[in-house]
Amino acid sequence: MAKNAFFETVAEAQRRAKKRLPKSVYAALVAGSEKGLTVDDNVAAFSELGFAPHAAGLSDKREMSTTIMGQDISLPVMISPTGVQAVHPDGEVAVARAAAARGTAIGLSSFASKSIEEVAAANPQVFFQMYWVGSRDVLLQRMERARAAGAKGLIITTDWSFSYGRDWGSPSIPEKMDLKAMFQFAPEGIMRPKWLLEFAKTGKIPDLTTPNLAAPGQPAPTFFGAYGEWMQTPLPTWEDIAWLREQWGGPFMLKGIMRIDDAKRAVDAGVSAISVSNHGGNNLDGTPAPIRVLPGIAEAVGDQVEVVLDGGIRRGGDVVKALALGAKAVMLGRAYLWGLSANGQAGVENVLDLMRMGIDSGLMGLGHSSITELSPADLVIPEGFTRTLGAS
Ligand SMILES: Cc1cc2nc3c(=O)[nH]c(=O)nc-3n(C[C@H](O)[C@H](O)[C@H](O)COP(=O)(O)O)c2cc1C
Repeated sequence: MAKNAFFETVAEAQRRAKKRLPKSVYAALVAGSEKGLTVDDNVAAFSELGFAPHAAGLSDKREMSTTIMGQDISLPVMISPTGVQAVHPDGEVAVARAAAARGTAIGLSSFASKSIEEVAAANPQVFFQMYWVGSRDVLLQRMERARAAGAKGLIITTDWSFSYGRDWGSPSIPEKMDLKAMFQFAPEGIMRPKWLLEFAKTGKIPDLTTPNLAAPGQPAPTFFGAYGEWMQTPLPTWEDIAWLREQWGGPFMLKGIMRIDDAKRAVDAGVSAISVSNHGGNNLDGTPAPIRVLPGIAEAVGDQVEVVLDGGIRRGGDVVKALALGAKAVMLGRAYLWGLSANGQAGVENVLDLMRMGIDSGLMGLGHSSITELSPADLVIPEGFTRTLGAS
């Protein structure tokens, strides 16, 4: 642990994560596809937006609680599902506890390292995320397991195209953590003693399995076993999405919307929320940042669905910008992963606190008493900033 475990920005958490994590684990979180155009634009686009602050007449009270998918959350920031393994021994349970401590909800990836039962026990405000993996019967079995565990909503992520290769190199991840893999990765682990110690203290090694994808009574498949099943599954149609939404019957988010026509189809499929997202730059490289397409999508769907944004959020000011352009809330990806890597549960709480403080400063400077008052008039939006995709 660093002398002072608190970090004052997400950038600092990332620096500490880089020092602490084995190279391949760090590289898996940096992720991004191909040339990295999208992963870069997701962050850079926020820098193009400015603020238009007031000098006096500011509000003493600033309200930022909201409701998403039927859940009351104390700030407009939730945890986006990430299927990452081996970052921290407590993994998604630590993240769930941190989110609960800060009054917000967590999306749990079906590729996560912890079970939905453990995570729901740590934070009842949990949404279970599923990719389109396996037959309809298998999808239903996994969905019903999540319901039985207490999941409050379903997140379906369909923006994935199995694009392969990164110009800066993909991490080499073993199929499973057996002795052979341990020896192969030992030099990396030895270079990162603090990370190794965290796992050593629990007596466990990163197991690289996906407990939420286990068939009843069967062992959990490995990460790559599950990935293989996914690759062989026929791709979902809009009718499939509507079907699953009906089977679930509760709050249902479609994650990965980048176009107005898709947003409208999601409305027709009966979803309750969409996330304007490009999978954190892990889908087709060259896709613009979600913040650029948000205004058009938010305007097109109005209040027919809740609009969430994820991608590139690194500070509270980014959240303010997203809300000003039409999002009801945002979801964090890498920001909380850096916090988790740097300081476990406390690190994720630290990140959520930074978001809260940043949103509060934003509201204060802009002279608002609530996030509901934010609008494009609060921002400096350069000409040509927005992108309109799929407008008929
Ligand atoms: C390492 C990593 C793993 C991810 N795994 C999943 C996943 O299992 N399911 C999912 O819906 N999205 C997944 N995502 C995408 C995130 O939920 C989110 O859309 C993205 O990280 C947001 O961008 P940001 O990291 O810039 O905040 C993953 C992202 C990263 C970086």
